[in-house]
Amino acid sequence: MSAFIVLGAQWGDEGKGKMTDYLAEEADVVVRFQGGNNAGHTVEVEDKQYKLHLIPSGILHDDKLNVIGNGVVVDPKALFTEIDYLINLGIKVTPEKLVVSDRANVIMPYHRELDALKEKARGKNDIGTTGKGIGPCYTDKVERCGIRVCDLLHKEVFEEKLRINIEMKNDYIKLLGGEPLIFDKIFNEYLAYAERLRPFVKDTSVVVYDKIKEDKRVLFEGAQGMLLDIDYGTYPYVTSSNTTSGGVSNGVGIGPTMITNAVGIAKSYTTRVGKGPFPTELEDATGDWIREKGHEYGTTTGRSRRCGWLDLVILKTSVRVCGLTSLVVTKIDTLAGLNKLKVCVGYELNGKVIDYFPASLEDLAKCKPVYEEFEGWEDEVANARSYEELPDNAKKYLKKIEEFTGTKVSIVGVGPKRDQSIRVTAEL
Ligand code: GDP
Ligand code: IMO
Ligand code: MG
Repeated sequence: MSAFIVLGAQWGDEGKGKMTDYLAEEADVVVRFQGGNNAGHTVEVEDKQYKLHLIPSGILHDDKLNVIGNGVVVDPKALFTEIDYLINLGIKVTPEKLVVSDRANVIMPYHRELDALKEKARGKNDIGTTGKGIGPCYTDKVERCGIRVCDLLHKEVFEEKLRINIEMKNDYIKLLGGEPLIFDKIFNEYLAYAERLRPFVKDTSVVVYDKIKEDKRVLFEGAQGMLLDIDYGTYPYVTSSNTTSGGVSNGVGIGPTMITNAVGIAKSYTTRVGKGPFPTELEDATGDWIREKGHEYGTTTGRSRRCGWLDLVILKTSVRVCGLTSLVVTKIDTLAGLNKLKVCVGYELNGKVIDYFPASLEDLAKCKPVYEEFEGWEDEVANARSYEELPDNAKKYLKKIEEFTGTKVSIVGVGPKRDQSIRVTAEL
C-alpha cells in the first residue's frame, strides 16, 4: 500500500507540476486535494509545454486515473476550457481518465466578481489574488451556502440554491460598487456545464480508497505551497485552503494513516507572486538576474515573480508542518553562473537568532535573515543525469539543505523537461 503527497514547500511555483508528471510514472492515480484554477502547473514533455490549472498533472500519461477531490473548488467554465485545450494538444481526457468529486464546491460567476471587487476595496492592503474566485468560493463553503457539484447535477436543487445566492450576492456586489448578476443567464449557462460534467462525477473518496486497498499507488498533487496555507502561511497573504499535508485527508476523504510519504518540492532559491512578507527577497540586480534566467513569470496570471535567496527556515518549517519524508530541489540549473550564493539559516529577531517562522507579520517584518555564503557553480548542469555529474559546489549546497532540515534530497531538477531530473534516492 502506498500513497504519497507531492506539495510545495515555499510560496508555490516550485515545480510541482513537473515533478508530479515525472513521479506519475510510479503511480496509478493522481489526485488534487485543494485549491482550484489559481494553480498553474507547467509540464514539459519533449518539445511540448502544457499549462495545467485544475486538472491533475498525471493527465499527460494515458494510463493514469486523475481525480479532482472534494477539497478542490471547481470552476466548470475553466475546467472545460482546460479539457478542450488538452484535447487540442492530443491528450485524451475522458471520464475513464478523469473523475470529479460530487462534494467539491463550485466556483460561480459571483465568486470571481467578488474576488475582484474585494481586492479593489482592500486598496493598498490588497492580497494580490489570482482573481479566480477562490477565496469567495471557500468562504461560501464555510458559510454553508456553497453550491456543490452534486447540487449542480440536480436541476431543482441548483435552481433554489442559485436563486438564494444570487439575491444575497447581488446586495453585496452592489455595496462594493459592482453590477448585479442576472439569474437566468447564469442558470442556463451552468445547466449546460452540469450535463457535460455529469459523466465525470463520482464519490471520489470511494474511488481513491478502493485504489489504495487494491495496492495501487496514489500520488496527491498539492497546489500553492506551505506558506500560502490558510493556517500556517503568511496570513492574510495566503490562499484560502490547507495546502499542507493535513489538507489531503480532508480534501480527498481518506484517513491520514493511509498516507505513507510526503515529498516537499523546493526551488533552489525562493519566489513569491502577489503581496506579503518575504524575508530573503532580492530587490536588486541579482533578483532580476534570477527572474530572467529562471523565467519567473506566473503561469496563471503572467505576473512577475518576486525572487530571493533560498530560505532554510522556511524549508525546516515545511518539514515540520507537512511531515516531509524527502525534499526535491528544483532549478539548480538556474543558479549556475552566480559567483556567490547566500542561504538563510536563521532570522535575527529582537537581538536573538531564531530558526522558526513567526506567526505575527509584525515580528516577521522585524526579522533580519542570517546568511551563510556558498561558492557558486559556473558549469551549466542541464545535461547532468546523475548526482555524481553535478559540480562539487552544487553538491555542497544540497548537503547544506539536507543537514539544516534533517531531511534527504530525493530528486534534483536540472531543467523543465520530464527527463531533466536526477533521482538521488529510490525512497521518496
Ligand atoms: P508549479 O506551480 O509548482 O507546478 O510550478 P510552475 O509550473 O508554476 O513554475 C515552475 C517553472 O519552472 C515551470 O516553468 C517549470 O517548467 C519550470 N521548472 C520546473 N523544474 C525545473 C528545473 O529543475 N529547472 C528549470 N530550469 N525549470 C524547471
Ligand atoms: P501553484 O499551484 C503561487 C497566491 C496569489 C496570492 C495568494 C492568494 O501554481 O504553485 P488566491 O487567488 O489563491 O486567493 O491568491 O496566493 N497564489 C499562488 N502563488 N503559485 C500558486 O499556485 C498560487 N495560487 C495562489 O498570488 O498571493
Ligand atoms: Mg505555478
